[in-house]
Amino acid sequence: MKPAVLVARAVFPEVLDKLAQHFEVSSNQDDVLWTPTELAQQLQGQQGVFTTGSQRIDAALLAACPDLKICANMAVGYNNFDLDAMTEAGVLATNTPDVLTETTADFGFALLLATARRISESEHFLRAGLWNHWRYDLFAGAEVHGRTLGILGMGRIGQGIAKRGAFGFGMKVIYHNRSRLDDATEATCQARWVSKEELLRNSDHLMLVLPYSAASHHSIGQLELAQMKHTATLVNIARGGIVDDAALAAALRTGQLAAAGLDVFEGEPVVHPDLLACHNVVLTPHIASATQPTRLAMAQLAADNLIGFLLHGKPLTPLNPQVLAA
Ligand code: GLV
Repeated sequence: MKPAVLVARAVFPEVLDKLAQHFEVSSNQDDVLWTPTELAQQLQGQQGVFTTGSQRIDAALLAACPDLKICANMAVGYNNFDLDAMTEAGVLATNTPDVLTETTADFGFALLLATARRISESEHFLRAGLWNHWRYDLFAGAEVHGRTLGILGMGRIGQGIAKRGAFGFGMKVIYHNRSRLDDATEATCQARWVSKEELLRNSDHLMLVLPYSAASHHSIGQLELAQMKHTATLVNIARGGIVDDAALAAALRTGQLAAAGLDVFEGEPVVHPDLLACHNVVLTPHIASATQPTRLAMAQLAADNLIGFLLHGKPLTPLNPQVLAA
């Protein structure tokens, strides 16, 4: 008998077809957002689940789903997984690294440019019929080329952004990360490690690319914002919760910070009303990896993790490989 897997959100039909060659597949092509109780009900008798960042996998769910052996996340981030609880329960976790790195770095740069150069704000002005003459200071924004790009979190995506900044825009790149890159990688990215304080003080544009965890919660709050330049731009393509959105909205409103570009939000898809009221913030709906080829590659990798593990005991990108050894 084929193993049973649940695809918990809508996905590319070709990925469902591929899974159906190997598994008894239950799918959710209507993209219903199940409550944790409904998800646990759907998972009864399933050995694998294909998740996105919106399904929480924790000890309570695992206890209710004793047949579950693997959760394959279609995302590089996995803060929806309680990894310790999964390891404890002997359930494998996988994510989708690498396939989205360059696409996400492209988007980070797009959001930085849109924010610094006030692209959304000026388009709204034009569409509203308010443009009736050229003016020397109309939507004058911040310079990007040659300025200092700060990066908080320097994994693969951070490194992609550093290269775009250094080689594409002639920027001086500084970064802060818990662990410093080796000299060769720093040279490849043309990036210099600095303390977090120095990063906040010296960045003209600060890009957040660190994973979300209890330790990174509100890494940028009132205190950090107060250390930044008044002329600075802040871009978050990492996760909601890394920034204190209420504190950010206050800084944007009072001019303590010039502008922000946000692809992720605390409590998304709900966006803090104070952010919605700010004109100097570009808001996008968590789309940094959203190109057709990249989203397909992510879905294929999640499916290949299910196939590799449930059929051959060999997942491609395990997050808790200790489960395999056990
Ligand atoms: C998207 O946010 C991801 O983690 O892949």
